Amino acid sequence: MDRIRIIGGHRLNGTIPISGAKNAALPLMIASLLTEQTLILDNVPRLADVAQLERILGNHGVDIMVSGKRSGETADHGQTLHISAARIVDTTAPYELVSKMRASFWVLAPLVARMGEARISMPGGCAIGTRPVDLLIMAVERLGGKIDIEGGYVLARAPKGLKGAEIVFPKVTVGGTHTAVMAASLAKGTTVLENAAREPEIVDVADCLNKMGARISGAGTRQIIVEGVAGLKGARHAVLPDRIETGTYAMAAAMTGGDVLLQNGRPELLQAALDVLVRAGVTVMPTNQGIRIVRNGAGLAPVDVTTAPFPEFPTDLQAQLMALMTRARGTSHITETIFENRFMHVGELTRLGARIQLDGERATIEGVPQLKGAPVMATDLRASVSLVIAALAAEGETIVNRVYHLDRGFERLEDKLGRCGAAIERLSG
Ligand code: EPZ
Repeated sequence: MDRIRIIGGHRLNGTIPISGAKNAALPLMIASLLTEQTLILDNVPRLADVAQLERILGNHGVDIMVSGKRSGETADHGQTLHISAARIVDTTAPYELVSKMRASFWVLAPLVARMGEARISMPGGCAIGTRPVDLLIMAVERLGGKIDIEGGYVLARAPKGLKGAEIVFPKVTVGGTHTAVMAASLAKGTTVLENAAREPEIVDVADCLNKMGARISGAGTRQIIVEGVAGLKGARHAVLPDRIETGTYAMAAAMTGGDVLLQNGRPELLQAALDVLVRAGVTVMPTNQGIRIVRNGAGLAPVDVTTAPFPEFPTDLQAQLMALMTRARGTSHITETIFENRFMHVGELTRLGARIQLDGERATIEGVPQLKGAPVMATDLRASVSLVIAALAAEGETIVNRVYHLDRGFERLEDKLGRCGAAIERLSG
């Protein structure tokens, strides 16, 4: 298993290219199941989760062709996938595949909408909590899908097709919103989603579906209206930049000090997180190439932050902010309201010398003048990258174990940070 070795204490200076968003690329790839024609996706990040979803789609009979690099392109350009679900050969998503990546459960909606049936393994719990799928199932049921749960599988049937309906989410859910929008796109009649997720990835997928011929309005607001159509066609769409990767490197630069341009980063995708950095004393400058993050000399101020659905501070940046606040001049508070168990990084940050106390969903972080390198590991990708951020500022050597978590969601992390002056290398095997 690969590990990452970091020697802390180097400032970051330079340019970090931001990749396409993992959490948009995955549902966009899944949307390919809605049409017999080819969906071409540009700016797809090279990530373990993308490769895993390629295998899952392959199991349903989807053909995926990766375009070769054009002249002048570098590794910083995302890949282009030509995805063709001309013939779906299997409507089952087995446990072995779904258990490796929760988002693969989302194939439920396009399969039942287009094929009239789907048999999808329940994903089970994961490192950040129990993560139920009841609201995804509720959405399909509201659209007329008949649901049975048997042997750990969700069986969804709609032999005569789905029917538009009103779907009111009691809680904001990204996966539930993707599911409802995709299923409703091929349903008969109009669907109204209330309390929909407003994450930028929802908007990106809706934009792509509209290019494919869907009739979706209101994506990015609490109410989304979908007028069902009889069929969807192929389209070409570029994945939007990854706001979580952007925020992660912004926090890394804030941690080490220096001057970093987050190329292609779009401030409006993570304004709440950038506002927190400004409160902490970091200079954030939107430019026409991306976002510049500068911190020279001045210490970090502590902050109080609560995670919440977009446009509030994202849970996917909570661990990274906590790493940053371990070095603040004073006491910070971070409250996690999305996932009940997303504090696996706390124990590992403590191993690096951080002072953090947990009380239910609230963490109190008392800033320390120095962290010290140590061997660490984490159980999910955002927690892993928070350890990288801490290590960049820790004295001496840190070895981050279980790098496969990082590879799920961060493209060429050691290369991107290394090019800005971090002492970071991957140790193979
Ligand atoms: C998406 O997960 C993201 N995954 C997560 O990113 C992200 O943390 C999360 O949204 C919140 O922003 C992808 O986009 C692939 P939810 P999702 O449904 O859709 C509860 C990362 O690190 N809930 O919005 O699974 C749920 O337990 C990952 O990239 C139900 O109760 O999250 C949670 O408390 C991790 N019943 C809340 O809703 C349901 O049926 C929000 O979850 C579904 C969800």
